[in-house]
Amino acid sequence: MRIFETLESRVRGYIRAFPVIFESSKGAILKDEMGKEYIDFFAGAGTLNYGHNNDHVIKAMIEHLQNDGVLHGLDMATTAKKKFLQKFSETILEPRNLDYKIQFTGPTGTNAVESALKLARTIKGKSNIVAFTNGFHGMSMGALAVTGNEFYRDEAHISRSNVSFMPYDGYLGPDFNTLDYFRKALEDGSSGLDQPAAVILETIQAEGGINIASPEWLKELSEICWEHDILLIVDDIQVGNGRSGDFFSFEEAGIKPDIITLSKAIGGGLPLAMVLMRPDLDQWKPGEHTGTFRGNNLAFVASTQCLDYWDNNDLSEAVKHKSKIMKEELDKIAEKYPQLNPEVRGRGMIYGIEFPELNLGSQISKKCFENGLIIELAGADDQVVKLLPPLITDEATIKEGISIIDKAIEEILAEREEKASGEFTL
Ligand SMILES: Cc1ncc(COP(=O)(O)O)c(C=O)c1O
Repeated sequence: MRIFETLESRVRGYIRAFPVIFESSKGAILKDEMGKEYIDFFAGAGTLNYGHNNDHVIKAMIEHLQNDGVLHGLDMATTAKKKFLQKFSETILEPRNLDYKIQFTGPTGTNAVESALKLARTIKGKSNIVAFTNGFHGMSMGALAVTGNEFYRDEAHISRSNVSFMPYDGYLGPDFNTLDYFRKALEDGSSGLDQPAAVILETIQAEGGINIASPEWLKELSEICWEHDILLIVDDIQVGNGRSGDFFSFEEAGIKPDIITLSKAIGGGLPLAMVLMRPDLDQWKPGEHTGTFRGNNLAFVASTQCLDYWDNNDLSEAVKHKSKIMKEELDKIAEKYPQLNPEVRGRGMIYGIEFPELNLGSQISKKCFENGLIIELAGADDQVVKLLPPLITDEATIKEGISIIDKAIEEILAEREEKASGEFTL
C-alpha cells in the first residue's frame, strides 16, 4: 500500500476503510491482489446496480472499442448516443408516460445537480432553493450548498447562500408532518423564507442515513410546489436506476417531478450524468451549459445494454422480492441484539441498520471487512450501516453478506465481554 500513502493525497477515503488492493471484480464480488474475495454491499456507492463487469455490458463495450466507435464526442451526435436516446425513450420514458427532455452534463452526479439548480434559478428568476435536512447532493459549490452534512459543507470557507433548509419527512419524529412548517413559511410573508425557485430532494436519503420519505409526504410536497409555482427537483442519482424497486424512486408516490437528476448506475459503471426536464423547462440557450466530458460515449454503450434489464418487469420484481429477504434477515439481527437498540430502515435494495452507540457502525464495518464483506456507513455520525448490494446479487449471496454483519456484531460483543471479564478478574 506504500505507493498510495506516498503519492496519493490525504483526501483519500474508502481506501482507509478497505485497505487492500483490489484486482478484479465480477457481479457482487471483489477480489484483492492476494486472492481474497469480498461480497460487495457498497457497489460503488450505488453505481454498480448491474454488478461488476456485467458480461452483457462488457461484450458491447469491447465491440464498440474494436470497431473504432467514437469514444469522445463532446455533445455531437454519435451512433452510441442515438442508440442510448432511443432505448431510454422506449424503455424508460414511454412506458411510464413521462415526457422529459434530456441534458447530458459533465459525467458526475454533482454536475447534474449544478445544472438542475442553475436551470431552475434561471427559469424562475429567483435565487433561493429549498433543500432538506440530511440531504446529500454532491461536492461542487452549488451542490454542497444544498447538502446538509457539516463535515462536507465546512470544508470550503466561502459562503453558500441562497438555500433554505426544511425538515425532511420524519425529522421531528413520527407525529409531526414537517410539511406543515414549509407550507406555513411559504404562506407567511414574515416567515423569513425567500420564495424559492425550486425544491431539491432525494426520496430516500442515502448518504444522510437511509431516511425514507413516505409516498403521502412526497405527494403533498409535490402539491405544495404546484400551488406555489416552485419547481420540484428529484435527485435520483443514488436511489434511481432501479434501487427502490422501480426505475425511478418517485414512481411509488405517483408524482412527476419537473426536473430529475440521474447519474451513478445509469452509466453501467462508467461516468454518465444527466438532467431530465419537462419539455417547457428546456429553456437553455445552445451551448449555455457545457462540459468537455458531457455524454461519455462508452458509457452510452454500457448504459444502453443495462437498459435491456428494463424491457420487462423481471428486475423490478426481483428487487422487490430481495428487498423482503433483506428486511427479514436484518430484522432478525435487530431482534437478536435488543441491547444495541438497532433500527432497520429501507426500501428496494437499499437498507440501513442504525446503531445509536457512537462508533459501533464503524467497528461493524471494519469487522465485516475482515470477514469478507464490503459495507459502508451513512448518517451524520456514521451511525447507520448501509446495505447497497448490486441489484443482480443472488439471494444466497445477500443472505451470506447479512450473516457476516451478524457475525461481526457477535464478535464485537464477545470481545467486549472478554475484556470486561478480564478487567473483573484483575
Ligand atoms: C443523491 C446524490 N446526489 C448527488 C451525488 C453526487 O454524485 P457524484 O459523487 O457523482 O458527484 C451523490 C453521490 O453520492 C448522491 O448520492
